[in-house]
Formats: sequence, structure tokens, C-alpha cells
Amino acid sequence: MPRTKISIVGAGNVGSSLAQFLALRELGDIYLFDIVEGVPEGKALDIYEGNPHWGTDSKVVGFSTQNEENYKHMAGSDVIIVTAGLARKPGMSRDDLLSKNVEVISGVARNIKKYAPEAKIVVVTNPADTMAYALYKITGFKPERIMGLGGSLDSSRFRTFLSMELGVSVEDINAFVIGGHGDDMVPFIRYSSAGGIPITKLLPKEKIEEIVKRTRTGGGEIVNYLKTGSAYYAPGISITAMVESIVRDKKRMIPSAAFLTGSHAKHYGAEGIFIGLPVKIGSNGIEQVYDMDFSEEELALWKKTVASVQENCRKVDEFLSK
Ligand code: APR
Repeated sequence: MPRTKISIVGAGNVGSSLAQFLALRELGDIYLFDIVEGVPEGKALDIYEGNPHWGTDSKVVGFSTQNEENYKHMAGSDVIIVTAGLARKPGMSRDDLLSKNVEVISGVARNIKKYAPEAKIVVVTNPADTMAYALYKITGFKPERIMGLGGSLDSSRFRTFLSMELGVSVEDINAFVIGGHGDDMVPFIRYSSAGGIPITKLLPKEKIEEIVKRTRTGGGEIVNYLKTGSAYYAPGISITAMVESIVRDKKRMIPSAAFLTGSHAKHYGAEGIFIGLPVKIGSNGIEQVYDMDFSEEELALWKKTVASVQENCRKVDEFLSK
């Protein structure tokens, strides 16, 4: 059987943590790419040199895309994770960040199309829903093969906070978050439970609201601590879960940014965008989208998150038409 090949574009904090987790779980050979010279090569070798202790045989190699030709090493990738991009700097508006990252994604997408047109792609660069849309527009790939990080991380944070509050194992907590991967994400309280018991029976309303708020601002909480960067351990693990479901065809139900079309578009009241949805992930990528019914309150939140993702996609269209 051929070995699984996984490429990561962007060997920064998220990309390199991810490479380590993927190697640890021996999910495939790992190819790390970054525009900075030396960084992908050095980090890859460093991770590779630790493998003997775990007894894993994942090959880990790195290439700088300073020389664009190096993207050729991506050929034959089964899965590609895109984390390349800029983080928001002081004085930079969200729109500035959006246009800068669309530019980065455009270059990466062109090379994926050229060298690895069969790969499944996980987009992590923020805003991830919008960047998944940009990558889809540029490559013209079937949208089922493209997904964005969102609910995997947001749900993981939500479950962690619930476990802390209830003092029970995180393993027994089921909870999920859909919508855009931003402050207006929609945590599904009604479907959240611990050991099968709805959390609304275990915690007072105010406590649940507090936890929902903390989940929504979970990324910002880490930024406030770190000051010079954003979260990468939980993101790396959350991406690993998605990649594992693709590589091992596990069919896990991990909420992710997926393309809205057909009957699902009708159900969710939006068409042609990528947004966090309850989905099944397998070797073909997004294999199923599930339609959720909303309460009145949830519907209002849903409409808000849809509107902000749509606005960002409109900006991407504008940028790409220039
Ligand atoms: N091609 C390849 N790599 C690039 C390019 C490019 N055109 N532009 C930037 N990079 C690389 C940078 O050199 C850097 O190593 O992307 C990497 C980004 O890493 P970090 O700055 O450490 O950011 P990180 O914390 O890893 O976050 C990456 O994931 O969660 C999101 O919001 C986050 O968009 C951000 C992304």
C-alpha cells in the first residue's frame, strides 16, 4: 500500500505543532512548507529526530517556497493543510488582514492546483471559512474536498469548559458549535450533554451563558495571555482529528466549515459559501452535511453569522476580480 502523504503549508506555530501531532500518531509522511528559508527544513528535521522515542516511522521533511519550484514536492499529497498567512498586527484592520491573507492563499492555491489536484484540503488560515471559499474559487476543485477549521476547535474548547465546570471527564461531554469561526459562532446548548444528560439539567442558565461567552472568545483569551501570537496547541490537535478522519476514513462527525449548496443551502438559508456545519468527514472529504433545526434564538444567531461570512466572501470576490 502506498504511504499516505500529508503536506502542511505554513510552518509557523500551528503548522509545526500539527506536524508533530501527525507524526506522533503516524498518520503519514509529512511535508512542511514555508516561505521563510530554513524554518521548514529545520523544524521538520527537529520533529523527525524525535520519532525513535515514539517508534513512529512518519518521514518529516521541509522545503522553503522562497523558491516556488519547491512546491513540486507537494505532488501526490493525500491531504494538504493550509496554515500560511499573516496574523493581525497592531493598527491592521480585519479587512487589511483579509486582503493580505487572500493574496497568500491565492499563491498557495495555484500551486496546489498545479501539483496536487487530487488532495483533500483543510484550510486553517483565518478567517478560515472565508479562506476556504477563496481557495475553492481559485482552484475550482469540488467543494467536498475542501473544509475549514472551526467547529473542531470551538467544540473542543466548549467541551473543555463544560468539563471544568461539571468536574466530570471530558470524554463524556458531547457538545458542538457551528457557524462562522469567529465571535458570532453558534454553540448548540440544546444538544450539549454530559453522560447523555442535557447540560441545561446540570447547570444554571447564567453559568451556561458564561461558558458560551468564554467559548466564543476562546481564541482571544489565549491571545491576551500570549501577547505575541495566537493559540496553536488546541488548534493543532483539532486539525489532527480532522486529518485522522480523512486518512483513516473514520467518518467522524466533526463540525467544520463546508460548502453550502442544494437542499442544505435551502435549509440553512445561504448558498455558495463555506460555513461551520455539522458534517461527516471521511476519505472523500466532507461526505455528508446534516440539517439542524433552529430555535428562534438560535436562528437569529445563525442569520448573524451567515451575514458576516457572506460579507467576507463578497470581499474575496471583489479582490479576485481585480
Ligand atoms: N507561503 C508560505 N508560507 C507563508 C506565506 C506564504 N506566502 N506567508 C506566510 N507564511 C508563513 C509564515 O512564514 C509563518 O511561518 O505562515 C506561517 C504562519 O505562522 P504563524 O505566524 O506562527 O501563525 P500561526 O499561529 O501558525 O497561525 C497560522 O492559523 O489559526 C490560524 O489565525 C491563524 O491565520 C493564522 C494561521
